[in-house]
Amino acid sequence: MSAIPHLFRPMKLRSVETRNRVVISPMCQYSAHDGHLEDWHLVNLGRFAIGGAGIVFTEATAVQKGGRITHGCLGLWTDSQIPGHARIAQFALRNGAIPAIQLGHAGRKAGMQRPWFGNGPLTEEDFARGDMPWSPVGPSAIPVAHGWPVPHALSVDEIATLVEDFAVAAQRALAAGYKIVEIHGAHGYLLHSFLSPLSNRRTDAYGGDLEGRMRLALEIAAAVRAVWPDELPLFFRTSAVDGTPEGWQLDDTVVLARALKAIGVDVMDCSSSGIAGAATAGATGKRQPGFQVPYAERVREEADMPTMAVGLITHPEQAEAILQRGQADLIAIAREALVNPMWALHAARTLGFDTDFATWPEQSGWWLAGREKTSDFYEPE
Ligand SMILES: Cc1cc2nc3c(=O)[nH]c(=O)nc-3n(C[C@H](O)[C@H](O)[C@H](O)COP(=O)(O)O)c2cc1C
Repeated sequence: MSAIPHLFRPMKLRSVETRNRVVISPMCQYSAHDGHLEDWHLVNLGRFAIGGAGIVFTEATAVQKGGRITHGCLGLWTDSQIPGHARIAQFALRNGAIPAIQLGHAGRKAGMQRPWFGNGPLTEEDFARGDMPWSPVGPSAIPVAHGWPVPHALSVDEIATLVEDFAVAAQRALAAGYKIVEIHGAHGYLLHSFLSPLSNRRTDAYGGDLEGRMRLALEIAAAVRAVWPDELPLFFRTSAVDGTPEGWQLDDTVVLARALKAIGVDVMDCSSSGIAGAATAGATGKRQPGFQVPYAERVREEADMPTMAVGLITHPEQAEAILQRGQADLIAIAREALVNPMWALHAARTLGFDTDFATWPEQSGWWLAGREKTSDFYEPE
């Protein structure tokens, strides 16, 4: 048996090999202009690549202009957006991380406030800042919650355009140099709203029973898979449960995962919730460390496919135990990476994989190893 901790074992996904199992989860920055990347995005994501993660995800990126969550969200709906993404992808690759992108459509939640302005539907105050509303879309004319705009129910023709736009955005992601695409099917955004019986009351082929509600997600996955090269992996992020007895259930997620796997989706990224409010809203009650890990475990076991665990995974030992127990194959870190962008490098030291800064960037590892050998460190009394 290798002494390498599970967290630092490379993972082969089609032709892509990650240097370890640490994934920086997609995190919106709400800092784009007209869907284009800024220096902020390069520096923000670049620090995670320098920080040793195996895979670095660019935030939810809209496949249509109207699919942005906020005015500050990224897009890949036009070719002029490709060069900004290419800088991110190149920088990640040069620094040993696999560049990945999450493609999505915000659906009923399109045109929200940036979180720090309220995290709800746009108000007069937002209009005064220049953030004007646009009409959101969904499976049915049912708002997210009281006070949210009523979405336009997509026609079958509009659905066909949407499927095509996901595929074209994936082609742009390829042109930018990303090696992994993830389809955003979680957190109450458009795909999730088609999956959940709480938001999808359609009576046509895209609604009704589980098969009908899954149709859009499967069509999009198939369309993306058709243009995304065979040698590159495709992920799908799911809200594994809605958290109410009337909503989407874990059993449904297993059925969906099996169908996605048959289409050629390689990894199920198992998140949860978001159908009836802002995805980033604080949970009512306290959440436990690793609270979504059981979803990744169940999908891995019953759909027989690799999974990514996410949600309050903060400690290297915790991440290592999840992998050792066979509950997931990849560990996604979000907020803890904001606390410590070099989380992966520190985890390597904590788990004894790197004792001499050998895995750190050459620009710093050499000096830090030297300092450790030659210096005493301050000890609090
Ligand atoms: C600032 C911020 C932005 C986020 N943006 C996205 C996003 O673009 N797509 C997504 O699927 N999840 C998004 N999330 C959710 C995270 O990817 C992750 O699932 C969640 O924060 C739980 O993981 P954590 O406990 O490690 O933070 C975001 C979270 C944060 C904190």
